[in-house]
Amino acid sequence: MTLKISVIGTGYLGVTHAVCMSALGFHVIGVDIEPAKIDSLRAGIVPFYEPGLEELLKQELASGRLRFTSEISEIADSDVHFVCVGTPQTETGLAADLTYVNNAIESIASFAKPGSLVVGKSTVPVGTAARLRQRLLELNPEVDLAWNPEFLRESFAVEDTLHPNRIVIGVVTDTAEEILKAVYATNLAEGVPWVRSDLATAELVKVAANSFLATKISFINAMAEVCEASGADVTVLAKAIGYDPRIGSRFLQAGIGFGGGCLPKDIRAFMARADELGVEDALAFLREVDAVNLRARKRMIELVHADLSENLQGKRIAVLGAAFKPNSDDIRDSPALDIALQIFGEGAFVTVHDPKAMTSAALRYPTLAYAPTIEECVAGADLVLHLTEWEVYREIDPLVLKGLVNQPIIIDGRNALNRDLWVGAGWHFRAMGRQTL
Ligand code: UDX
Repeated sequence: MTLKISVIGTGYLGVTHAVCMSALGFHVIGVDIEPAKIDSLRAGIVPFYEPGLEELLKQELASGRLRFTSEISEIADSDVHFVCVGTPQTETGLAADLTYVNNAIESIASFAKPGSLVVGKSTVPVGTAARLRQRLLELNPEVDLAWNPEFLRESFAVEDTLHPNRIVIGVVTDTAEEILKAVYATNLAEGVPWVRSDLATAELVKVAANSFLATKISFINAMAEVCEASGADVTVLAKAIGYDPRIGSRFLQAGIGFGGGCLPKDIRAFMARADELGVEDALAFLREVDAVNLRARKRMIELVHADLSENLQGKRIAVLGAAFKPNSDDIRDSPALDIALQIFGEGAFVTVHDPKAMTSAALRYPTLAYAPTIEECVAGADLVLHLTEWEVYREIDPLVLKGLVNQPIIIDGRNALNRDLWVGAGWHFRAMGRQTL
């Protein structure tokens, strides 16, 4: 019998998971409390940009296996309920806000059928799953709970969900593992590593992985600071250390640092939880990771001052990139927009371009100016900032662009442009962690 699956929460994670589960052949119902989201998804429109997802959504809606609803009671005949709601940073501190996860468990408990399994996917502080399981058993003793962290990257979400590099499940009972093996049978057959653990370890795997990635980025950004001070080149340094397979070359791209809906909030929530557990010293280094990351944005502003002037009043600055990373329209904690806003706050005329994130950026930050094309963005600029490394920016002909700006000065905040090309075209080229040419 084919399993019936419900997915609670149709944000980034939930939509992708629901669509991919349907693509694997399951009957899936996606549930959200926001009717507008449901209307959009029913119409085959993904409310954010993720390569390949909208096509797959349309295909799966047409297959008849995938439905969306705002009525939580419709999960009643599902065998597995994936919890994919958000756990944002609280307004008042570093900790994660668990309101949505708590509410989801309460609602699922009212409608879940006996023998069904609730599977948490949201990123939560260690200890949450055990507490939620206890609450669920109080409300509905015939339902079990497991934790199955999600490691998908935005802009590779479909690929990462259909072909994960590992599946981690935190379970208390063998039955829960058997159900999850049925859900992930295709991946298991493909030989994807399967890691069974207790609930706490499964929760920790996610935040530990994100902390490691954040540390790697801040490590190379700290090296960039040393390179700038000593006349060295961080891009060559990263390449050279990356050849050591124990280090590896990925996530060693120095620049304005990490942002998005996961890394910043996850390391902060992890520190807050360590505090509660009395092991704050163990994660003290993450404070430094966060500080190095935020300092990268400040350093970029200092470079702007160095290249233009201390006083930015009336200067025209073109910002290429608004999303927190390329191939995404996600602007949550975007380093690019943070920098754009800071220089705007100092009196500069800031014009932003982004291939996909301009609508969301303009809605959130209407005071910045937005230009529909790269050419219009840089027209008359005193300085160009390259802040999100979209492919289209790498393809720019610096000679053509030079004819449009007021003065040919560019700062590459992502170390992604071909310096020789830009310098050869007559640009004053600065990049983080490298010497200026
Ligand atoms: C991250 C994790 O990679 C993923 O496994 C987890 O499930 C969710 O959090 P994501 O937020 O999509 O995924 O972005 P990621 O690709 O990790 O990039 C995060 C940030 O780091 C971006 O702002 C990116 O520009 C920056 N980054 C990445 C660097 O500054 N340098 C690098 O070398 C790599």
